[in-house]
Amino acid sequence: MERASGRAGHHKLVSMPSADFPLLCPVCSDPLDLLEPNTGTQPRLACAAGHHFDAARQGYFNLLVGKGTSFEADSAAMVQSRVNFLGGGHYRPLAQAVASAVVPNLPGTGAVVLDSGTGTGHYLREILDAATADGRHVAAIGLDISKFALRRAARLNPEAVNMVCDIWQPLPVATGSVDAVTVVFAPRNPAEFARVLRPAGVLVVVTPRRGHLAEVAAVTGMLGIEEGKDERLAEAMAGHFDLESARDVDIPLELTRAAAADLAFMGPAGHHLNLGQIEARLDGVPEPVTAGAKFRLLVFRPGKRGTA
Ligand SMILES: C[S@@+](CC[C@H](N)C(=O)[O-])C[C@H]1O[C@@H](n2cnc3c(N)ncnc32)[C@H](O)[C@@H]1O
Ligand SMILES: [Zn+2]
Repeated sequence: MERASGRAGHHKLVSMPSADFPLLCPVCSDPLDLLEPNTGTQPRLACAAGHHFDAARQGYFNLLVGKGTSFEADSAAMVQSRVNFLGGGHYRPLAQAVASAVVPNLPGTGAVVLDSGTGTGHYLREILDAATADGRHVAAIGLDISKFALRRAARLNPEAVNMVCDIWQPLPVATGSVDAVTVVFAPRNPAEFARVLRPAGVLVVVTPRRGHLAEVAAVTGMLGIEEGKDERLAEAMAGHFDLESARDVDIPLELTRAAAADLAFMGPAGHHLNLGQIEARLDGVPEPVTAGAKFRLLVFRPGKRGTA
């Protein structure tokens, strides 16, 4: 709480112990300290060697050094549709399932959670609220390559450190420092997740299942889920993680046409169609627009390498 108000107020000078946020300098790999600002300045991440990263006005840090992986970033308009749709609470049961998979695995003190591909920070918010309700303090780190998304994440989760990073580069996070990594519909780098997790840590992955939103996809031209994704995920994790549990989360949706349009536009279809085109395709579809969201929530534990 103190941290959030310190950050929002911009008037206190508080040096937070780096142990709270186990971050590493992306240039020299020394620990990064989070320095809260004097009046009128932004928070800063700085290492002992003098490399420093000032927060953007919107509160996130850009830790990308060199060129990130080239990819088609979600536009500001797509991010807005994501905020609209998720803010409508349609995926709340999924957010609650993610939080329930994470919070019981956190230690009573010094807990660290890393949300990789945090997007607008929606799922991390639910984790932080559930942890607070459970009496736990959590140091939260949100990573994403999109600054448009992180602007929203920094606003929603001001107590977290939100950083622009490329998941395909070494993460600026200390080895063996994180209790839970969450990855909700975002790219996965198993070797890096395994490196940053504590041995007793947990990796929670959410993926869509075949048939996810098929009804909306048929009308709006959303891309379907490829077959074989599950098998590829298991293969990619092998060697780094053991699967502990898997559960399906199914959410029946009853949407307005506007919500259905946001839902389609916030996903891959947003890279091919504009919102107006999607709305035109939904024109005349009776409300509520019904669809089934089909997710799989997988819980992994770091594999026991080197003990055989
Ligand atoms: C479908 S969104 C999911 C966002 C959020 N977890 C949610 O469910 O609302 C995928 C996210 O992965 C991020 N992403 C894509 N490639 C990335 C990369 N190379 N490094 C870090 N983040 C990446 C995107 O910017 C986007 O925010
Ligand atoms: Zn440095």
